[in-house]
Amino acid sequence: MTSFFLRVFGCQMNVYDADRLRTAFVERGWTETSQEEARVLVFLTCSIRDKAEQKVWSELGRVGAGRKDTERPLVAVAGCMAARVGERMARRFPWIRVVVGPRHLGDLPEALTKSLGDGALRLLLDEDPREVRDLCVPPKRRDNPWKGFVSIAHGCDNYCSYCIVPYVRGRFQSRSPGEILDEIRALVDDGVQEITLLGQNVNSYGTDGAAEGWTFAYLLRQAARLSGVKRLRFATNHPKDLTDEVIAAMAEEPAVCPSLNLPLQAGSDRILALMNRGYSVERYALLIDKLRSTLVAPGITSDLIVGFPGEREEDFRASCACLERFRFDMVHTAAYSVREGTRAASMEGHLSEEVKQDRLRVVNALQREISLEINKSLEGRVFEVLLDGHAPRGGDLLQGRTPHDKVVLVKAPETLLGHFVHVEILQGEHWCLRGRILPPADRRLPRDVPAGNAASPPGMVPGGLPGKALSAVTPCGPSGACCACPEKDA
Ligand code: SAH
Ligand code: SF4
Ligand code: F3S
Repeated sequence: MTSFFLRVFGCQMNVYDADRLRTAFVERGWTETSQEEARVLVFLTCSIRDKAEQKVWSELGRVGAGRKDTERPLVAVAGCMAARVGERMARRFPWIRVVVGPRHLGDLPEALTKSLGDGALRLLLDEDPREVRDLCVPPKRRDNPWKGFVSIAHGCDNYCSYCIVPYVRGRFQSRSPGEILDEIRALVDDGVQEITLLGQNVNSYGTDGAAEGWTFAYLLRQAARLSGVKRLRFATNHPKDLTDEVIAAMAEEPAVCPSLNLPLQAGSDRILALMNRGYSVERYALLIDKLRSTLVAPGITSDLIVGFPGEREEDFRASCACLERFRFDMVHTAAYSVREGTRAASMEGHLSEEVKQDRLRVVNALQREISLEINKSLEGRVFEVLLDGHAPRGGDLLQGRTPHDKVVLVKAPETLLGHFVHVEILQGEHWCLRGRILPPADRRLPRDVPAGNAASPPGMVPGGLPGKALSAVTPCGPSGACCACPEKDA
């Protein structure tokens, strides 16, 4: 019987692809095992920044070096690096026998089976950026049994000038609404409590004419109304495309959580224009106002790049001012990383690593304080929390999320995993909240406490713990006690 192990780098897209691959392999009778014992190792890789790629190069070297041919696993490289540098990787490391771009994932199980048989190298590169040979398997064997992702679109056509994604994930293409809703139903039947719709820009859904006239707002409403969908989220949004209809759907559909990521990327209009983002800071501010005046205490997170080519001191100060103005719950910060082939790579005014790292330290320190203040202000409040895993470095603590997407750590028995509980917040920290589960008699939420708009009764999930997936997910940044630390290391 073939044994396998999945190594996941990068974003939720890769977690989703890994969940589908695991399902497809298990359906073929393969077994998931540890990295050391696996006959087949699949790396799902990320190209977003240089550091993300370096991690993969060094891991790929480590798995084969110093081992005899007969003891080496057969390695497949999937994900965004496969499309960008997969051929180069296979030349450098002979243990790589399959390279598969994100748009050819559906061909991976068969290619692996063949390469296990004949030892030949198979390159399934995404030469046509419009062709999709998808893996049509609902992700039933998930990294997280209680939470599931459903992709609603492939690729991205926005070409933000710093970003590699359009080059590695190909052209934007909406999935059919029927397929998406069927996949959500399959996840709900499988005990999933929280579903996240995924796309590089979910707000573009349907604009390519491939979704039978559906818009993202309409899809969101239909998904939220499916029987058994308790919590629905989506990621990620583009400020130029987020519509009033989407905000209305968030406000009116009880299953849609009041949380969203709205990447700002820069706080100066000059840099936003150079980034090709298609909005100004004031237009962005209008969206934030609308979200905060329409939704009850929404959780809003953002992304910010510092040290973009030509970023002057005053541009950087404008980014800091935006953090103070918008007071996000959390910000994924990163120093600009040159991506070969993108427009920004050939722009003038590249900054030194030292300046970029200095600016990164400043925004991280500023946002840490803002997040801490917000989190401290939640002490004493009560939220409904879906307990979805063990706190990675929290001893016997379990971790969960509020409807507005704050990470909460509580002391609780493992049997509560996958359950909704009501938690009183005892302490707000930088990137998470610590609390205690209220006994049933105290579970009524005080009237003035916004606990989001998902109000499912607690304790409605299947009993027992499903088998734990064994894959290793490497987040983009260093993690603290919880998995919520947003600071990127490059
Ligand atoms: N589609 C999403 C996110 C894509 S990548 C969006 O439009 O927001 C996730 C984040 O990585 C981006 O939001 C951006 O902040 C960061 N990023 C992308 N390219 C980068 C680069 N070259 N250098 C540094 N950060 C980058
Ligand atoms: Fe990259 Fe911009 Fe597309 Fe996001 S919207 S994936 S940042 S090009
Ligand atoms: Fe995601 Fe990294 Fe690709 S962020 S889309 S895996 S480049």
